Amino acid sequence: MTSTAPSLARIKSFTFSGIEATPVTVEVQISTGLPSFIIVGMATRAIAESRERVRAALSAMGLALPPKRILVNLTPADLPKDGAHFDLPIAIGLLVAMGIIPSETISSFAALGEITLDGSINPVRGILCAALASATHNLGLICPASQSQEARWGHPDLPIIAAPSLRVLSAHLRNEQLLPAIPAPLPQPPHYGPDFKDIKGMQQARRVMEIAAAGRHSLLMSGPPGSGKSMLASRLPSILPDLTAEEILQSSQIHSISGLLPPGQLINRPPYRAPHHNTTLPALVGGGPKAQPGEVSLAHNGVLFLDEFPEFPRSCIEGLRQPVEAGEVTISRAAHHTHYPARFQLIAAMNPCRCGYVHDVERSCNKAPRCSQDYAARISGPMMDRMDLCVHIHSLSPLAISRAPEGESSAEIRPRVQKAYDKQIQRQGICNSQMTPENFFFEQDALTLAEQAALRLKLSHRGITRMFRVARTIADLEGSETVHKQHAAEALSYRML
Ligand SMILES: Nc1ncnc2c1ncn2[C@@H]1O[C@H](COP(=O)(O)OP(=O)(O)OP(=O)(O)O)[C@@H](O)[C@H]1O
Ligand SMILES: [Mg+2]
Repeated sequence: MTSTAPSLARIKSFTFSGIEATPVTVEVQISTGLPSFIIVGMATRAIAESRERVRAALSAMGLALPPKRILVNLTPADLPKDGAHFDLPIAIGLLVAMGIIPSETISSFAALGEITLDGSINPVRGILCAALASATHNLGLICPASQSQEARWGHPDLPIIAAPSLRVLSAHLRNEQLLPAIPAPLPQPPHYGPDFKDIKGMQQARRVMEIAAAGRHSLLMSGPPGSGKSMLASRLPSILPDLTAEEILQSSQIHSISGLLPPGQLINRPPYRAPHHNTTLPALVGGGPKAQPGEVSLAHNGVLFLDEFPEFPRSCIEGLRQPVEAGEVTISRAAHHTHYPARFQLIAAMNPCRCGYVHDVERSCNKAPRCSQDYAARISGPMMDRMDLCVHIHSLSPLAISRAPEGESSAEIRPRVQKAYDKQIQRQGICNSQMTPENFFFEQDALTLAEQAALRLKLSHRGITRMFRVARTIADLEGSETVHKQHAAEALSYRML
């Protein structure tokens, strides 16, 4: 580095919008002038604070910043950038500009990582998304050592440098002490969670769960306290069809960007999210200052279970209407929009009234039946209309539970569900709960029954469509090519609540 000519280093990184990683070039220039350290290029405060972390990390390596003008430019300049993961590319750029790391070693790499004051490289969100994007852009990836396996899931041939600290990284890039290659991660066995065999009796509820799982249908369960609604919902993931490779990557990317991906693992079974009813709208559908994904996106390709549904704030219940239909969420900020996938299976549970015993004359409170109408009214008509299946869960007496034989296990139910699900994908490329009316092929007797019921029950067009979808799933579970009257009749019985 001469004293007059400015020294310039360039390294790639990424900024995230939803699960999309957009390439950003980090330029570091050291030139003569009054000593300063400036970061430009629509950077947020977290990036501006990089200066102090990088300065301290270099000093921990025994290096002092040159007493010159240091300019960091993040380009494209008109793209908003956020995240402490810019620490690492800024630090690497500085080391290159200072002549400590040879520039050719990093020219085909992108870097992401947060740096601590002692020079350690800490994990950051979105490494999987960055690894996938690096492979697309023919780049290698420099990332925190603790996230090497996450990066490896992005692509088996991706060049990865996973370093625990800036000092170790610098030694590797200077060819002094090489880091080990990152092996292919071992696929972890699927975790199915609680099992259906624990549920005694409850044949109708089990049947409804099987239909819901097979067609990925939305379901509302209403029943008295202790009737087993939460227990049923928590067992639904154990019988859901397997995720495809594409679904695994999508769900894992959403978890990665939220910082919730288990170390070195992918989301290889449908996710199950059960937020508490004191949640907020941004936590549920996404948002907040960083436009983070909400529970609906974390439940993408899986289940969103809302227990005590009427107790959720009205804004949350109504806020679900759009993602349920669209399968994605758009978070608008002043300058840009962020999209997240949100194709989830909505499962809701509620008591029929506040005391929960409106149908039990001996136990109901003195406000029955009015309290039940008020309580149910907390869920708007349009939201109820979006439920494919609505069922009443009957309570079993403790004696009936203790005498009932052990139920069918999840391992026995799962193949039936998988078979019915595979049929849907072969036939129409999507599952029945996403099927559009043009895919409907019904026998005349089923259509006549549906038309009569639509008039009698005053079903909306959406209600009829959803009933048809459920009927199709019932026929698929039976292995029937066409939908008959009995399938439509059973589907209708689940809209009577
Ligand atoms: N059919 C059943 N088989 C086995 N256990 C059952 C059954 N029904 C209820 N239970 C037991 O009762 C407990 C209460 O069930 P759960 O919490 O699912 O009820 P709930 O309907 O969600 O009640 P609440 O409305 O109060 O939330 C469960 O932990 C479970 O052990
Ligand atoms: Mg419950």
